[in-house]
Amino acid sequence: MIQIKSITLLLVVCIAFVGICFGQLPDNDPQLCQQKIQREDCPIIPYPFTSVDDNDQIEVWYLQAPIFEGMFGNFFGKLKGFHSAVGFYDLTTGLNYTAEYDAYYEVANGTVPNIVNINGTKEILWCNAGILCSIPFINETYWDPAIFSTASKTYMTTINGAQLNKFSEWMQEYNISNPNYQTWDIWNKFGESLWMSSNTCDDFAANAFQYLFEIGATYDCSIVFKRDYLNIYSQQPTLVDYESNKDSIIKFYEAFDIRKGESYFQIIEDIISIIGLEKYIYYQDNYYLLQLNYPFLDLKYDFAPVPGCSIEKKSFNEKNYKVIDVTTKSK
Ligand SMILES: *[C@@H]1O[C@H](CO)[C@@H](O)[C@H](O)[C@H]1NC(C)=O
Ligand SMILES: *[C@@H]1O[C@H](CO)[C@@H](O)[C@H](O)[C@H]1NC(C)=O
Ligand SMILES: *[C@@H]1O[C@H](CO)[C@@H](O)[C@H](O)[C@H]1NC(C)=O
Ligand SMILES: *[C@@H]1O[C@H](CO)[C@@H](O)[C@H](O)[C@H]1NC(C)=O
Ligand SMILES: *[C@@H]1O[C@H](CO)[C@@H](O)[C@H](O)[C@H]1NC(C)=O
Repeated sequence: MIQIKSITLLLVVCIAFVGICFGQLPDNDPQLCQQKIQREDCPIIPYPFTSVDDNDQIEVWYLQAPIFEGMFGNFFGKLKGFHSAVGFYDLTTGLNYTAEYDAYYEVANGTVPNIVNINGTKEILWCNAGILCSIPFINETYWDPAIFSTASKTYMTTINGAQLNKFSEWMQEYNISNPNYQTWDIWNKFGESLWMSSNTCDDFAANAFQYLFEIGATYDCSIVFKRDYLNIYSQQPTLVDYESNKDSIIKFYEAFDIRKGESYFQIIEDIISIIGLEKYIYYQDNYYLLQLNYPFLDLKYDFAPVPGCSIEKKSFNEKNYKVIDVTTKSK
């Protein structure tokens, strides 16, 4: 009888904390991961855009706003980063729509895991869900440069209703195929051998403009994107087994906890200070061991043409273009 009881208890514990009995804690467990602030622009029940008339005339805008510390956590607040989105103004119906992608539990949780103590055992808990936020509304206050000087709205192109309807399907597929937020780009050297790529709001916007181009949208080639990249430099990352490297992986993530509210440069120092430790990256549900290359990690920007256009890198002069600044200003 006692034995049956303890087996039942063990089962209950196993069900509650699947990770303990069968490997790691489940990522984004809705019981263990809790949003600190519920965002009104990213409702729990999303509103995929309702379909519009094929002949509607729709303006597409690139929207940018500073990332607010209170709302998005210290990490990007300190970075003075931007949040970006794609806005649609249906001139025929007067309705507006916003599509954006973000870290559901904010960027800090999308970047490092939580080390939780479950009954005396340290476990890794990732709350790194990335999610599409789509609302039938554009918050003019949020994206207004008159209110937040670094906010901006840039006209990109005009499409029709049939194209918006296709986009609406595309963004829902994007949401399914991009379940995790990923802060870093992992390169051998900047611009050479990109092993793993970031998955952020900017990546979503860039992919959205690319998709609209593929279904017929055209852009003004005098527009260029000035994009920032958060980079880690490493030789080709090697896949490792979580269970057999668990202690080492936990040590690595314990060494820096960006939720302590450190500045970006302190974060970099923390990461570099752990020279003696094995370094890992969690990518698409797997851990990889990194062999860092100098300068280990940094923040860089580069100019990117809008889809269907090209820029001559060698003779490139910023002054000849309308530059959409996606740059993260670190000071
Ligand atoms: C990050 O994840 C932790 C662990 O679940 C959670 O308590 C916290 O609220 C999350 N942070 C934000 C800003 O949502
Ligand atoms: C859509 O945006 C336009 C331009 O800002 C505005 O005039 C209009 O009232 C908005 N529509 C709705 C339904 O809010
Ligand atoms: C923690 O461990 C103790 C002793 O092994 C056990 O009685 C208890 O149920 C455990 N609690 C949880 C939450 O696993
Ligand atoms: C619009 O954005 C402003 C500024 O962030 C915010 O205070 C307001 O609550 C938002 N309104 C809606 C309806 O989301
Ligand atoms: C995006 O995916 C999440 C699950 O990861 C789901 O809860 C949400 O409803 C999806 N949003 C849209 C607009 O399809």
